[in-house]
Amino acid sequence: MKHWITAAALLAATTVALAQTPIERGRYLMRGIVACGNCHTPMGPQGPLPGRELAGGTVFDEKPFTAVAPNITPDAETGIGRWTDAQIVAAIREGKRPDGTVIGPPMPIGLYRGLSDTDVAAIVAYLRSVPAVKNATAKSVYRMPLPPAYGPPVGKVADVPRSDNLAWGRYLAGPAGHCMECHSSPGPQGPDLVNGLGAGGMTFNGPWGVSAATNITPKGIGRYSDEALKKVITTGVRPDGTRLKPPMGTAFYANMNASDLDALVLYLRSLPPK
Ligand code: HEC
Ligand code: HEC
Repeated sequence: MKHWITAAALLAATTVALAQTPIERGRYLMRGIVACGNCHTPMGPQGPLPGRELAGGTVFDEKPFTAVAPNITPDAETGIGRWTDAQIVAAIREGKRPDGTVIGPPMPIGLYRGLSDTDVAAIVAYLRSVPAVKNATAKSVYRMPLPPAYGPPVGKVADVPRSDNLAWGRYLAGPAGHCMECHSSPGPQGPDLVNGLGAGGMTFNGPWGVSAATNITPKGIGRYSDEALKKVITTGVRPDGTRLKPPMGTAFYANMNASDLDALVLYLRSLPPK
């Protein structure tokens, strides 16, 4: 009897340690691989501006658009404080605002369609928890037609089993982290996720000048050991001492745990060399 109680107590303790609450999961994702703040938090020369998390205002000036990242803090007037959870989920996974308008690029809606119900709920829980910041942002201008929708309603998305490391790595690089949105080669409709998956070539203008996303298929990263590659991703410093420029989200990826990094690297190594 005594032994049985001990075993049960141990099992309960282990389950509690492994299960994250939505807000814990949301914090891990948002301060790590998901990194909405890489676009939605205004950046100064030293990185994210203090006290302005997710307050918006960053401008993406490209040929087909001048897009402005909106304020997604819980402020009722200038943020998304009045949106319901379902409305926020629809904005993230379907690119649809409560007023029916469509959210344009560079928000990677196509990939976010694959975010699991668990993870998108965790992201919403985190969004509700950040301090409300009053900050009205300008409207985006698109010099290209936006699609009427990004596809049929998303419905339910199951969790990818973490026991399958390769599938988990693919989920992290795709729907969760949108590494592939930046690192695939440019096609006529944005990144070519089929023929140019991970091949690099997209360019980004900003206060840093112009940066170009590199090839992260085995052809591009073959020169790195797993350890070196993880160090590049999480510190932004290459073995030769050169530093990765924005918008590579190094400061966020620094917070990823070891098993997620392993799965990510396993997946990148599995890509067809381009
Ligand atoms: C690559 C940059 C980028 C990333 C990453 C990104 N967004 Fe956005 N997001 C934008 C831009 C730009 C807009 C505005 C587009 C427009 O005006 O149509 C936007 C619009 C939105 C809106 C609509 C807000 C409004 O008031 O209209 C919400 C909500 C939103 N994003 C949430 C998120 C969340 C949550 C994440 C992370 C899961 C995320 N975004 C990741 C760039 C990004
Ligand atoms: C918003 C766009 C963006 C996102 C998202 C992004 N990257 Fe990058 N990444 C870049 C750019 C741009 C560079 C090149 C920076 C430079 O050369 O200064 C880069 C560089 C790299 C490098 C260095 C490669 C080399 O040859 O030295 C690696 C590795 C890398 N990214 C992996 C990733 C992974 C893995 C993810 C997802 C977790 C990711 N990136 C997400 C834009 C992005």
